Amino acid sequence: MAAEDIDVFAIADEEAFEPGAAAAFEFMHIDEKGEEKPVSIIIMRTMADTYVGYVNECPHKGVRLDGGNGRLLSLDRRNLECGQHGALFDVETGVCVDGACVNKSLEPVAVAVIDHEVCLVGVKLVEDDGKRDPFAPGGDDDDGPVTLIMPD
Ligand code: FES
Repeated sequence: MAAEDIDVFAIADEEAFEPGAAAAFEFMHIDEKGEEKPVSIIIMRTMADTYVGYVNECPHKGVRLDGGNGRLLSLDRRNLECGQHGALFDVETGVCVDGACVNKSLEPVAVAVIDHEVCLVGVKLVEDDGKRDPFAPGGDDDDGPVTLIMPD
């Protein structure tokens, strides 16, 4: 059986995320047809010190979670929250636990920490020139916008 290449895309240093921090990263995704399409992916370091990733699209109406109030997290930071109608999502599973789409789930994206770098795994993305710094003022020095949601 031939080994298959798995796409791994480093996006930030591990230390860039404090526990309870979430950020949205903008990418160009290459779909099954080879076409490039923009995608926003939420990366979160949970309070349990695991990293999770989800496509930034609410299963209720298909909008960005941070599209309404600009936040990704509920005020108590226990859940990811859709700013449009307030659906709350379990951070570990992505499943909606309250609101307009209960039991529906955010689309998960595999995230791994490899050599102290937070990486997306198995997602075909257009290569760019380096990692992002979610803590840089106004985003980072790459072209793509970054939304950073940090604990107070
Ligand atoms: S669009 Fe997210 S809760 Fe309605």
